[in-house]
Amino acid sequence: MIIAPSNLEEIMSHHIVAVENLRFSYPDGTAALNGLSFFIGHGESVAVVGANGAGKSTLLQHLNGYLTPQQGLIRIGDFHLNKATLREVRRTVGMVFQDPDDQLFMPTVFDDVAFGPLNLGLPAEEVERLVTEALEDVGALQLKDRPPHHLSGGEKRAVTIATVLAMNPDILVMDEPNTGLDPRARRRLINQLKQFKHTKIIATHDLDLVLDLCERTIVIHDGKVMADGKTEEIFADRPLLVKSHLEPPLRMQGCPRCGEKELGSAIVPPSG
Ligand SMILES: Nc1ncnc2c1ncn2[C@@H]1O[C@H](COP(=O)(O)OP(=O)(O)O)[C@@H](O)[C@H]1O
Ligand SMILES: [Mg+2]
Repeated sequence: MIIAPSNLEEIMSHHIVAVENLRFSYPDGTAALNGLSFFIGHGESVAVVGANGAGKSTLLQHLNGYLTPQQGLIRIGDFHLNKATLREVRRTVGMVFQDPDDQLFMPTVFDDVAFGPLNLGLPAEEVERLVTEALEDVGALQLKDRPPHHLSGGEKRAVTIATVLAMNPDILVMDEPNTGLDPRARRRLINQLKQFKHTKIIATHDLDLVLDLCERTIVIHDGKVMADGKTEEIFADRPLLVKSHLEPPLRMQGCPRCGEKELGSAIVPPSG
């Protein structure tokens, strides 16, 4: 049985993600997910945090059907994820993989960002508009004629995010989206993601980014949910963070010089 919310509107929503008792082992026998469950409602912005090897990427790769459950159930919007619903699930979920090289394969950046919209059968003018907007949003329009495999890590990352934004997905799933980004690009990404009003699921080590973007945090440890709750409460639980091999966000670590305890534990407003 899938976890069900009491709210009927949420049951009907296209933007929900429900995971029930998900288990997954790799062919070499590594048990990556060991019975994991949660429900994410319409419009929620949720961080998935945990040490290296905790199972974050394996979990996220299930959410767009890149991996299919060996045991357990996944519901994305109105669909139970299985081979028959893969197409619908992939249209619903925009996925930014941890490694941009898994996602960029066309001769130019423009072609890569246009690939999805063209596959939807949209007219060329509309595709051009979507591609230009998405590249502008991530500050990468000047790269449009470059071959993706010649770009820097941060540039590739920006382009992969544009490939997903151009599809205007109902649910955005991002695996370590800020890896390789310089501070300006990171700030731009945060502001961009703030404007994305649909459901967001972000796996990251950057707990400061989580404070900015996600009101809820799920802590994964050894392929299980170790905690799931309000971000501020999770980050204030130091024993939990230690157990999960996480460090509190810099903003909550206090000032090393004056000893002032908290630099601000609340979610900080955008800096512009
Ligand atoms: N292709 C693979 N084959 C075998 N084991 C893997 C593979 N990918 C990941 N793992 C293992 O699965 C576990 C979870 O990995 P992963 O989901 O990548 O964690 P995270 O993203 O939290 O760092 C780890 O023990 C990792 O070594
Ligand atoms: Mg990972």
